[in-house]
Amino acid sequence: MTAKVIDGKAVAEQVRGECRLKVEKLKQRGIVPGLAVIIVGDDPASRVYVRNKAKACGEVGMYSEVHELPGDSSQASVVELIERLNADPAIHGILVQLPLPKHLDSRRVLETIAVGKDVDGFHAANVGKLVLGEPLFLPCTPYGVMRLLEHENISVWGKNAVVVGASNIVGKPMAMLLLQKGATVTICNSKTQDLALHTILADILVVAVGRAHMVTAPMVKKGGVVIDVGMNRLADGNLAGDVDFEGARERAAYITPVPGGVGPMTVTMLVCNTIEAAERGCAA
Ligand code: GUN
Repeated sequence: MTAKVIDGKAVAEQVRGECRLKVEKLKQRGIVPGLAVIIVGDDPASRVYVRNKAKACGEVGMYSEVHELPGDSSQASVVELIERLNADPAIHGILVQLPLPKHLDSRRVLETIAVGKDVDGFHAANVGKLVLGEPLFLPCTPYGVMRLLEHENISVWGKNAVVVGASNIVGKPMAMLLLQKGATVTICNSKTQDLALHTILADILVVAVGRAHMVTAPMVKKGGVVIDVGMNRLADGNLAGDVDFEGARERAAYITPVPGGVGPMTVTMLVCNTIEAAERGCAA
């Protein structure tokens, strides 16, 4: 079997088309959805992500602003900026790019964001709402994965879903969304003994670890769906996923490539969430 390669770029473009129409409608009501992105320090990968986020906003007609703070910024200065943005009626969504420098308390920073402007869905209140099945915002990467599955008419109801990686950003919310859609979910982590024992049973396998090619072909169920969230920069400068794509595609029924799979969806769902925030009229 050779898998169907899920074209995340094409699906993202389609969703952005829907976003463009929603933005036009909001503009007719005098509302321009606005996103503020905060980046602290000069991590090169984070800078690329932030640039892509601002660009995606511009492409659908939204307003965005990027706040670049020095790496030695104090907790108080970051909190003060967020409080100002919380009160800014032109800003509907606030995103703090992670990871933050170690001297900052990420949890406290994220808890400062107004719940209604927390378009990443990382505030404790939004995490709780997600677990209760009453989400205000779905975290962007898991949201993007669910949209890809829907687009391919892949039902997760009653299926074995295995999530490799238990981060707050991807693994945990991903597992929760799959559970809520009726999957039987296993969450694997760095301590999991014999990872392959779990992954081989996965009708739907989501890998979000951050280690190039750690999932190899024999670990993939024949006819399964493989979603690769990994984005690893190789020594030769190329990007690679967490899955051995060439091997896995010979066993799976569906697979996402890297780049061009989940990545474009993550940015797009951020745009969707900010538009939703603006539609709710959450601006202070
Ligand atoms: N760093 C890596 N992924 C993400 C994300 O989805 N949101 C934020 N804020 N930071 C990230």
